[in-house]
Amino acid sequence: MTLAMNQGDLIYFDNAASTPVLSEVIQEMVPYLGNHYGNPSSQHTFGFNTSRAIEKARRHVAYLIGSSPDEITFTSGGTEANNLAIKGSISRLGINNDNKGTVLISSSIEHDSVLQPFNSLKAQGFNVKFVEVNREGIVNLESLLEILKKDKVMLVSIMLANNEVGTIQPIKELTKITHENSNALFHCDAVQALGKIPIDVKHLDVDLLSLSSHKIYGPKGVGAIYTRDRDQLTPLIDGGGQEKSLRSGTENVYGIVGFGGACKIASANLNENWSKIKKLRDYLIDRVLSAIPRCHVNGSRSQRLPNNAHFSFPGVKGEDIIVKLNEYGIAASTGAACSSNKAKPSHVLKAMGLSLLEIEGSLRLTLGHQNTMYEVERVILALEETIKELRRHSGFPNN
Ligand SMILES: Cc1ncc(COP(=O)(O)O)c(C=O)c1O
Repeated sequence: MTLAMNQGDLIYFDNAASTPVLSEVIQEMVPYLGNHYGNPSSQHTFGFNTSRAIEKARRHVAYLIGSSPDEITFTSGGTEANNLAIKGSISRLGINNDNKGTVLISSSIEHDSVLQPFNSLKAQGFNVKFVEVNREGIVNLESLLEILKKDKVMLVSIMLANNEVGTIQPIKELTKITHENSNALFHCDAVQALGKIPIDVKHLDVDLLSLSSHKIYGPKGVGAIYTRDRDQLTPLIDGGGQEKSLRSGTENVYGIVGFGGACKIASANLNENWSKIKKLRDYLIDRVLSAIPRCHVNGSRSQRLPNNAHFSFPGVKGEDIIVKLNEYGIAASTGAACSSNKAKPSHVLKAMGLSLLEIEGSLRLTLGHQNTMYEVERVILALEETIKELRRHSGFPNN
């Protein structure tokens, strides 16, 4: 695995927002930006070349999640996959007298690309319920079971791993109680988990699963949806009938090729590479906790993505930490990249029951294959200095 990124002394600890594209992946993509420009639907050699490349990529994506290739449909990313899963499985119902009481379930810590489709279904008259999570960010099974037993539920959507705090949900147990107690489809947003922890859709027993390429060292603007039964979805985009009519539009061939290449590499390196990153991450957490007074880790320590470290530093503002770290050449985040430019407190941390002081002072550091022990040491020193300085200004004790 080779990383193309070389940006001088800059340190990148925001891999949950996006990852650098691997050099091998770029090399695989280049021919499809050059000589292999045929439309995959064309019935000549140029078209056959690109459609073959798409099918090869589909096999790599399928292999990484234990599905068969014909259960994979390429999309423009995780956001589209989530919208297709949620709106596509419900829109065919419409709102009529038969399903007026229909309940749709999600969790209070989902990504906006899940929450917003549910909000738009709510506006159409569907009854949407959000199950709560505990202090570690783990979904309450009893709350889900209670709704399933009481209501007519059509769809449950719960993420595999959270993008802010990295908490991993017990999806196998959640699908079990869902399928035992309802006819609901179970959708899972696996965008953050893909390539970091083993995923087997048959074992998890999910009906729909969303994936994205740019979180696993592939290019941006491409993702996929796994469908156990594609007939249960209505397409969001109609047109030329590409992707067996589930997602029309000429395929993003080089993007798909890159995504396939990234999945192939992720499959080969799943355990070995992540155990190295997990060690670095654990070292980072332990050192920060001992070097900086009055701070703590958010989320579960055991049920957690191997690259996620998420802290609260009361008495400082997360945005100020980011600015200061950036001055040290370190890229970090307060949480979700897509909402980090909005000054609103994280709905995830709120749902986990953190106080405003803890939410305001939150910081997410997410590691990747490119990070080294030297970089971890530099981040710890910079963070120690940053918190000391910001607390001096805010008057919050730092001992
Ligand atoms: C959990 C989760 N779901 C969905 C998405 C959206 O994926 P994409 O950026 O490919 O649209 C993200 C991106 O941050 C995410 O973290």
